[in-house]
Amino acid sequence: MSLPATPDPAARNPDLLYGTAWKEDRTTALTALALRAGFRAIDTANQRRHYFEAGVGEALAQAYRDGLVTRAELFLQTKFTYQGGQDHRLPYDPAAPLARQVAQSVGSSLEHLRTEYVDSYVLHGPSSWPDWSAADAEVWQAMVEERDAGHVRRLGVSNISLRQLEQMLTHHRIPPAYVQNRCFARTGWDRDVRHFCRQQNIVYQGFSLLTANPEVLAHPLVAGLAERSGASPAQIVFAFARAIGILPLTGTTSEVHMRADLASRELTLPAEAVEALESLAG
Ligand SMILES: NC(=O)c1ccc[n+]([C@@H]2O[C@H](COP(=O)([O-])OP(=O)(O)OC[C@H]3O[C@@H](n4cnc5c(N)ncnc54)[C@H](OP(=O)(O)O)[C@@H]3O)[C@@H](O)[C@H]2O)c1
Repeated sequence: MSLPATPDPAARNPDLLYGTAWKEDRTTALTALALRAGFRAIDTANQRRHYFEAGVGEALAQAYRDGLVTRAELFLQTKFTYQGGQDHRLPYDPAAPLARQVAQSVGSSLEHLRTEYVDSYVLHGPSSWPDWSAADAEVWQAMVEERDAGHVRRLGVSNISLRQLEQMLTHHRIPPAYVQNRCFARTGWDRDVRHFCRQQNIVYQGFSLLTANPEVLAHPLVAGLAERSGASPAQIVFAFARAIGILPLTGTTSEVHMRADLASRELTLPAEAVEALESLAG
């Protein structure tokens, strides 16, 4: 199959991502369950320490075999992780230059996921703080080359601060299509980074929306909204996230929660409730 060298501008962004971290030997079964429940966007990483990417690939193969879904209907996202974030199970030669490590990691991801391209390829996190480093610049350039070679449709970056993001955009001609960050309510749900992303036309993906914010889930405002709309507090948080421009991730291991998280897409919150929730904790 031949692929365009540049991302398809008409390609749609997903509205909810199923996250596959920390599932170990349940990865295949849970990813298969998520696909059956209706998820069409999957987030993983070539980082064996926290993800079992080949297990995701096995679930995809099963879904194709069963006629549940085609590759074209899916949005697959994976990541490049520096050696510092890995254990001994590396998807590249650590002695190779970073650009080569990126190429090897992409190749290994395509094998794991049994595909010729991924829809989004994300730098799991900058190499150091507080600045965007020369190593990050080398990795990003290698990621751009993977995109130009058609192995990857869009690029993203994760666990990034506003300062690093601003430096990155000053340094590189190709900006990220996605930023993926942990979202704490106490920082206004990562307000500074989110607002910058909106200005720059970057889609903001938020993770740990539930686990990082137990105080929000237990808050009377959320409980009241949940009761009035016949939804759960978790669904209110996902609906709120979407209302402020966050593309949410969920890594639920429960089929009931999978369906609930998908159903939250139908939920619209009143503007006053969105405003109140946004300033609840930060
Ligand atoms: N870029 C990064 O560095 C990074 C870091 C962390 C995560 N991620 C990505 O983000 C994904 C999601 O991670 P996460 O931290 O947001 O979530 P998570 O760790 O997968 O946890 C989600 C939690 O919320 C619960 N939950 C989900 N839906 C619920 C519902 N409707 N009602 C009640 N509880 C519900 C789940 O419990 P049940 O299982 O019982 O439903 C689980 O405890 C990961 O799998 C990974 O793909 C990326």
